[in-house]
Amino acid sequence: MPTEVKKSNINHPELEAWVAEVAELTTPDRIYWCDGSEEEYQEMCDALVAKGTFKKLNPEKRPNSYACFSDPSDVARVEDKTFICSRLKENAGPTNNWMDPREMKETLQPLFKGSMKGRTMYVIPFSMGPVGSDKAHIGIELTDSEYVVVNMKIMTRMGQKVLDVLGSDGEFIKCLHTVGAPLEEGQEDVLWPCNPTVKYIVHYPEERSIVSYGSGYGGNALLGKKCFALRIASVMAREEGWLAEHMLILGAKSPQGEKTYVAAAFPSACGKTNFAMMIPPESLSDWEITTVGDDIAWIKEGDDGRLYAINPESGYFGVAPGTNEKTNPNAIKSIESNAIFTNVGITDDGDVWWEGLTDEAPENLTTWTGERYDPASGKPAAHPNARFTAPAAQCPSIDENWENPEGVPISAFIVGGRRSTTVPLIYQAPNWNFGVYAASTIGSEMTAAAFGEVGKVRRDPFAMLPFCGYHMADYFNHWLQFGRSLSNPPRIYVVNWFRKDDEGNFLWPGFGENMRVLEWVINRVNGRTGAVESPIGYMPRYEDLNWEGIDFSKEQFDELMSINREGWKKEVLMHEELFEKMYDKLPKEFLFMRELMLSSLWRSPETWELAPERV
Ligand code: GTP
Ligand code: SPV
Ligand code: MN
Repeated sequence: MPTEVKKSNINHPELEAWVAEVAELTTPDRIYWCDGSEEEYQEMCDALVAKGTFKKLNPEKRPNSYACFSDPSDVARVEDKTFICSRLKENAGPTNNWMDPREMKETLQPLFKGSMKGRTMYVIPFSMGPVGSDKAHIGIELTDSEYVVVNMKIMTRMGQKVLDVLGSDGEFIKCLHTVGAPLEEGQEDVLWPCNPTVKYIVHYPEERSIVSYGSGYGGNALLGKKCFALRIASVMAREEGWLAEHMLILGAKSPQGEKTYVAAAFPSACGKTNFAMMIPPESLSDWEITTVGDDIAWIKEGDDGRLYAINPESGYFGVAPGTNEKTNPNAIKSIESNAIFTNVGITDDGDVWWEGLTDEAPENLTTWTGERYDPASGKPAAHPNARFTAPAAQCPSIDENWENPEGVPISAFIVGGRRSTTVPLIYQAPNWNFGVYAASTIGSEMTAAAFGEVGKVRRDPFAMLPFCGYHMADYFNHWLQFGRSLSNPPRIYVVNWFRKDDEGNFLWPGFGENMRVLEWVINRVNGRTGAVESPIGYMPRYEDLNWEGIDFSKEQFDELMSINREGWKKEVLMHEELFEKMYDKLPKEFLFMRELMLSSLWRSPETWELAPERV
């Protein structure tokens, strides 16, 4: 029998029975119920340092912060090992891996048998969303990873306060996780236990439960995040009439003091964190951007008919490479202390470094794989998907309403991907349906966080391709239906920060300068600025954007905004590739919208530009 440490008061028979049942199967040496306190966090970090998994960073440079390095086989989400095990295959749809739930359980049973041997099983009660908010939902993660416990402490609200809300019969999502590395008697542990070859990230949508085996990294292991707050929550949202989205939420206060909130969906590693924490350039500094969330939004209709969004998380698990004082000063400040760094480079004086943090790599740097950094080797110091974990409350731009249990009212949706060609900087979908179409057909060139060939375009509807817990075409229908029931649905905009010229240079400076685009969006929402009708939607003219303090010519703008007829025809025809996969459930509206777009492209000039006479 495992020894049991109960740091928290628990009186929930169903929960206790489940914990006992899992312990019997996985045979941990110890069961530890987390209370979520600061002391517990410190104890666990100290234990990770003692074990060698965590390296304590120099307290003068990076107080109360740690670095750790994963097994090279365990550095990102594993999409090909991620399953939606609905009873019917057609409910998982063509974009998800599926296995019959009974078959999956038979596969997992022997893997979990004794999988926690020699380890402690932690019971982590957590709330996604402010504790007690009627928009929040509770999960319990059972895990044999201390790394998971300390990351969950930052990323979610966890511990006794959650059990208090749960009471004796409250509902919770079962989240079971093991690194899949049992320890035999006397066997020495490795620094990053995981199963290097066998991994399964499994969702049972009907049961609303999650089982994860073999990985200790990010979204594979911190089950509140993608597994719960997106895959399972998207199923709940569809059944209950709300939205669970891979979206940042930001607030923008205008020079006149008017506050507008927007939610934006960009695929993994495509700039959500950057946009959510954006600092406007000097010339637009009378605008203020505040951060509600950087990755996930739960959105429900309020009594007044508007949409209200909460951020279910309480921390950032952000991409480190590329983050610096210029690209994201607020993220840099958020990680000054109390942070965990995974797979970054380490300097000899005990600080962190990654590609893009500074122009030059510091002397005496150790790479994430523990080698001396040698720029000539071509090997980076940090893994491209290296991440920081930091408390949201440490972000200087955190919004005053970020923990408001009611959420914040959303006035516009923005969607975007990483496209070096074809897609202009910004356009507004003509209406809700066209917006849903545009968001459903978003393409993005793949990055280290996404599974596939880096650089190739993949369709990533609403940036949800790896995160939708049911049939993607049902998801499209859910969005259409959701809009039908709203008296005044928010407008939907498409952005692309990543368009390049023939030499491969970005056409748009991006980052803080994205404020110029956001300003136009907010002015549109509030009926304050003009636009021109283009073959794909409404677009700003050169004079509709604020160019104060930037040297950006009309010619540059035209190149950035141009719509090439043949390129767009190809683009629209390529949507067929996505559609034919889900023809059985595809909204019929999509076929007509595609035809409409083709016909308006057909009559457009070869290169459509924002000529003044077209206004
Ligand atoms: P996940 O956490 O994986 O969901 O990703 P995210 O969308 O939050 O990614 P993040 O904001 O960390 O984006 C990281 C990458 O986007 C880095 O390579 C940045 O340099 C790049 N990026 C962000 N904003 C811009 C921009 O405006 N222009 C350009 N060119 N790159 C950008
Ligand atoms: C993403 O890949 O979109 C992330 C990182 O936000 S992870 O939590 O690992 O999924
Ligand atoms: Mn994400």
